[in-house]
Formats: sequence, structure tokens, C-alpha cells
Amino acid sequence: MIGEPIDLLIRNSAAQLTQAGIENPLYEARLLLEAASGISLKEQLTQPDRQLNVRQVQVFAEYIKLRSKRTPFAYITGQTEFYGRTFQVNNCLIPRPETELLVDLVLDNRKCWFSGKPRILELCTGTGCLGITLYLELKTEFVDPTVLLTDISHRALATCKANIIQYCEADCQIEAIAADLFPKPHKPQQFDLIIANPPYVRSEDIGKLAADVFEYEPHLALDGGKDGLVFYRRIAKEIKPFLSETGNTVLLLEHGLGQRKAIKQIFAETNLDIEKTIEIDDYQKHDRILGFVLKSH
Ligand SMILES: C[S@@+](CC[C@H](N)C(=O)[O-])C[C@H]1O[C@@H](n2cnc3c(N)ncnc32)[C@H](O)[C@@H]1O
Repeated sequence: MIGEPIDLLIRNSAAQLTQAGIENPLYEARLLLEAASGISLKEQLTQPDRQLNVRQVQVFAEYIKLRSKRTPFAYITGQTEFYGRTFQVNNCLIPRPETELLVDLVLDNRKCWFSGKPRILELCTGTGCLGITLYLELKTEFVDPTVLLTDISHRALATCKANIIQYCEADCQIEAIAADLFPKPHKPQQFDLIIANPPYVRSEDIGKLAADVFEYEPHLALDGGKDGLVFYRRIAKEIKPFLSETGNTVLLLEHGLGQRKAIKQIFAETNLDIEKTIEIDDYQKHDRILGFVLKSH
């Protein structure tokens, strides 16, 4: 309400969020107030009597209304954090913290996997958070990494391109294109690293996902077909023309709980020359990342 001190406004709004079943209502109310008004959490605590202007009150009320309907926080503010940077998320899957493990894995192994100018392909990029982060983290060490990002959703690509513009110089070697998984003939055509977090939920399980996910996140970003493994099967089948001719190509795949064994089997049945298999669990000790070092063909 106009004229109310923010402390009272926050507490009333937190009560609304509590009724809606939001887990950390006071904290979320404070974060939404910060997003609506620019008043930081520290300022909220040290200046509890401060008041909002008319516009800020309206925006804050709208944010609380949306959150009470369980709209994910990131879709209300239009952004989320990934690897310490803010990414726009409209029309995309909201990046999950577990996906940062892929970045750590690449950075930990960069000296072994890359020499000179790394050529990176990210399939199913969504916001582009993964490929853009790799570009930004690697460019200080390697001259001009080339990063190609693909997604089938034009709406997701629009967000991805906005994220590229936000973080990358105009002449950077990073490009986002529409493709059904792998790009059509494109330069470069061969890559040192191919990375993907494809949709992996079984079609029949989509309806069982939490309401925040089912009702708000794009189903195109979730649906991995009948057994959830359609994209892994396609990657295994279609990857060959994109492997480096001069050295190894590292393939890194994020996947869902309990899918590791089946994906390993899919790749074992190909004629790809696998030099090494990489298996990484997430913070909950769930199987999460499967990788292969593939020998040049
Ligand atoms: C699980 S999301 C991953 C987004 C992002 N890489 C991340 O980790 O946060 C999967 C993405 O795959 C895209 N996608 C779905 N089907 C596709 C296809 N056939 N070809 C390319 N991308 C596809 C979706 O639009 C979505 O952005």
C-alpha cells in the first residue's frame, strides 16, 4: 500500500505467500521487493520505514500476485543467476544449479582437452547460459574460442541472443542458430567439445512434475520422448560428422536421475571410438553427467 513502511508491506506480502504455500515467504517477499523497487535487502533491513512510490507499489503487488499463483521467481523477474552471472530466461527452461557442474568439468579439464582455439558446440542451448559461460570463462586463456549454440525454439533463441549481446563483444566468435539438434552444414563443422543438456523427461511423466515446472516451463525443453532418451539416441546416431578430424572430441551430456546406464548402453551400441567415459554425480549424489572422449575418425 502507498504510504505504508516497507517493513509492514513485506510482512503482509509474506503472509500472502505463506497462504499460497511458498517455502521461504519472507525471503522471497524481500527479493521481490528488491526486484520491484531496486531497494536492496540490506537497505530493507536498515531502513524499514522507507516507503515505495506508486509505480513500485503496483509492480510489487503484481509480483506477489504472480508468485502466489506459483509462477517461478525467475519468470517474474525475467532472469536468474548462472555461474555468477545474470541470464534472461523468458521462453526458456530456467537454468538449474546442477548444470554449473558441466562448466566446472570443462574448466577443470581445459588444459587436457584444448590446445589453441577450442571449437565448442552446444546443442539444446535454451538461454545459452552454458555456452556463453564457457566462452566467457575460456576466452581469457584461449584465443578466440568458437562457440556455436543451437536450439529448435525460435523464442528461446531470441532470449539466447539477448544474453549473447549482454555479455559478448560484437565481433565475438559465438553464434546462436536454429537447428533440429545438430546444425546443417556450417562452419566450423568439427568440434573439440560438444555439450548438451537435452530434454530428458519421459513424456508420460511431464504431467507428474511440480506445478511450477509443469505449468510454466516450456514442455519442448522437458519432453525427452517415450523413454526420455530420444535425444541421447539421436546424438549418438548423428554426431559423427561433427567430430574433430585432427584430435579427440569430448562429448558431455547432462541427464536425468537413473538414466546413465541406458545412455552408456546407447553409445556402446554405436561404432563410435570411445577412449574414455566420464561419470559425474550431482550435489545430491544422483547420476547427472555422462561424458565420452571420442577418438578422431
Ligand atoms: C533442458 S533445456 C536446456 C536448456 C539449457 N541448455 C540449460 O541447460 O539450461 C532443453 C532445450 O532443448 C531445446 N530443444 C528441444 N527440442 C530440440 C531439438 N529437436 N533440437 C534442438 N533443441 C531442442 C528446447 O527448446 C530447450 O531450450
